[in-house]
Amino acid sequence: MSGRRSRVVVLPGDGIGPEVTEAGVRVLEAVAAREGLEIETEALPAGAVAIERWGDPLPEPVERAARAADAVLLGAVGLAAPPPPGAPRPEEAILRLRGALGAFADVRRGRCLPGLEHVSALRPERAGATDVLVVREVGGGIFASEPRGRERAANGRVAVDTCRYDEHEIRRVVEVACDLAAGRRGRVASVDKANVMHTSRLWREVAAEVAAARTDVEIEHVLVDAAAARLVSDPASFDVLVTENLFGDILSDALAGLVGSAAMVASANLGGGTGLFEPMHGSAPDIAGRGIANPIGMVLAVAQMLDAGLGEPAAAAAVEDALLAAVATGARTADTARPGERALTSAAFADRVIDALGAGGRAGRAREAVARA
Ligand code: IPM
Ligand code: MG
Repeated sequence: MSGRRSRVVVLPGDGIGPEVTEAGVRVLEAVAAREGLEIETEALPAGAVAIERWGDPLPEPVERAARAADAVLLGAVGLAAPPPPGAPRPEEAILRLRGALGAFADVRRGRCLPGLEHVSALRPERAGATDVLVVREVGGGIFASEPRGRERAANGRVAVDTCRYDEHEIRRVVEVACDLAAGRRGRVASVDKANVMHTSRLWREVAAEVAAARTDVEIEHVLVDAAAARLVSDPASFDVLVTENLFGDILSDALAGLVGSAAMVASANLGGGTGLFEPMHGSAPDIAGRGIANPIGMVLAVAQMLDAGLGEPAAAAAVEDALLAAVATGARTADTARPGERALTSAAFADRVIDALGAGGRAGRAREAVARA
């Protein structure tokens, strides 16, 4: 217990965002009560809801509040149909938040929770052995470099995106990956396209320099196309992947596919003063409002926020243990229930996590039961 009061800006957003956020905030409140933490939350609009009211996916006062907070928890942003050309896009809220908060490392963990191996695209024995971190650079690269845009040339329409990296941007994110690997299996795979791209050649050079200065990690360099194949065929051969913005966007979704669903992967955007934490799934308009969305990614995002965002590792571990206990004792959402298993609503699933939090030691026992099974 830190005795410190933390302030969390909560951005429920669009689609299933509000449902999973409500589940996540209830879990957050329960663990705060259990651990004696003072966590104040303030819910603000972002995404399509903010565009609707203010014509801006991230209104200035919301951005200011996010910057002043200790952590930001986001549900999901996005609409069913893309807005007309030139109109503001809900997704800009995420990109602008990363920029405003100075985030440059997006950490996503692909791990199948014990008991949910059947949802994974992998064979059960492989699913159980999968635990990969993707550290994605999110401050620069093709998502942020100039020039970018569209123009009309003599021969028709032209569009340009630019990928630019300087060595400082590469070094700092590779360092994050090395630090994380040092606390795991000590292996970093730096992913690039050095056989074609100049930015990738610089990436490989700098990544090698960072790793050479460390005795606690080993680095290998993998071309992105080969990395994609290996991630699918032999995910256990990876510990921590580190890569540029666009490759990381794609590979982290592949990782969600391995786990079975982006709804069960959390995303922590780190590096600036305030971290942005979110489940990796989108707004899923097709199931929004029915209360059946899977809140596992959000609960994992709450755990990541407690740990990396608020400096409360014990509370983070308590949330993870409670989630594992809920799953181990049969809590299933609509997308993870097998035929004959009862599917819980998002709220009922959160209740099971909260029950397990209250039960304290039950989490540990449930984990033993899974390990023996
Ligand atoms: C993600 C998303 C975002 C990204 C979009 C919504 C801008 O795909 O977080 O991976 O590409 O960064
Ligand atoms: Mg993505």
